[in-house]
Amino acid sequence: MIKTLEINFAKSYPIYMGLEVLRTQLVAYCQGLKERLVIITDSHIKNTLGLEVQQLLQGVGLSVELFSFPAGEAHKTRETKAQVEDLLFAKGYGRDTCLIALGGGVVTDLVGFIAATYCRGVPVIYVPTTLLAMVDASIGGKTGVDTPFGKNLVGTFYQPHAVFMDLKVLETLPEHEWCNGIVEMLKHGLIADAALFNALKTQRAKLKEPQFLLEMIFASCVIKKNMIEQDERDYGIRQLLNFGHTIGHAIELIEDYKISHGEAVAIGMLVEARLSVLSGFLEPHVVDEIEQVLRDYGLPLKTNAFEDIQRLKALLGLDKKALANVAQFVLLDAIGVTHFENNKHVVAVKSEILDAGMVNI
Ligand SMILES: NC(=O)c1ccc[n+]([C@@H]2O[C@H](COP(=O)([O-])OP(=O)(O)OC[C@H]3O[C@@H](n4cnc5c(N)ncnc54)[C@H](O)[C@@H]3O)[C@@H](O)[C@H]2O)c1
Ligand SMILES: [Zn+2]
Repeated sequence: MIKTLEINFAKSYPIYMGLEVLRTQLVAYCQGLKERLVIITDSHIKNTLGLEVQQLLQGVGLSVELFSFPAGEAHKTRETKAQVEDLLFAKGYGRDTCLIALGGGVVTDLVGFIAATYCRGVPVIYVPTTLLAMVDASIGGKTGVDTPFGKNLVGTFYQPHAVFMDLKVLETLPEHEWCNGIVEMLKHGLIADAALFNALKTQRAKLKEPQFLLEMIFASCVIKKNMIEQDERDYGIRQLLNFGHTIGHAIELIEDYKISHGEAVAIGMLVEARLSVLSGFLEPHVVDEIEQVLRDYGLPLKTNAFEDIQRLKALLGLDKKALANVAQFVLLDAIGVTHFENNKHVVAVKSEILDAGMVNI
């Protein structure tokens, strides 16, 4: 039960997904490498998944070290990057090194960035271990760290050499971490694949069944693949992946990151769907349908961010898609279809429409 997807840039690379992908595909892939191998993971999963993967590789005679850094977004920093690099230098690793990033999006973003600059660039393999990292962070080549001035402000575009998604690793993923991935999958359905959205909507109970989960992850990755291949550097169609994120990021900022990314984006998708209705593009009943699905998945859809609309609007003017301080949104025409106008994937939304749409859920 393994599926493969190829990402095609100047140099193509495979994504393997399924059950036992680590035991089979990863091991075989690493046996074919000339480089010295180092697994880098976070402190939460070092002694579980970290040791497991190290032992798998050692079991076939490969020598591989295992390093970790403290888990959590707070450690996705330039400081951690420097510490890991210094550790690698101290252990004598040079250009003949291949890094294996084992973990959630924090690990793939940070280790991808290290790989991009270590000795001017070494190969990196991603082994995403959260649903979010599988359907989002490990695809597309964005790497980076946070700074006191904002998230992901320093980084590069750097593609991994291969990605291995083993559904088995998700068995230990805490329930609240699942939501972050599910929201991104629903987003992929809403912007480009009504069948994906409907399957997630109607067959929620099957999501923990490997075959169904694999199909959903695959469909989700196909959407992201299609967008990033057309727009590696994020100037055009890739903006569609920001659906729900314009409002979502503003909510995260106002909430001081106390609510999860998935929760903030879920509210963002709902409000942006409402803006689509108010702009005359989307049938009103679709908003109720989206809300119901999000509630069924247990998303609380609660925030205090709408109590200060002026602050929210000011933050929207600062969004990276904003043009001359007017907020730009990805809007929907229907489930699976985004609005395209004047050759653009984003729409400037008038202040009155914003006011009408940004009321609490
Ligand atoms: N590069 C991109 O395109 C992109 C896209 C989306 C998100 N991101 C980044 O991804 C990050 C969020 O990723 P995330 O949600 O995976 O967070 P994360 O990496 O912090 O992982 C969440 C938590 O789950 C734990 N964990 C990971 N795998 C586990 C497993 N199998 N079993 C038990 N626990 C496990 C981790 O230790 C951590 O505590 C953010 O920094 C975000 O900026 C990047
Ligand atoms: Zn997101």
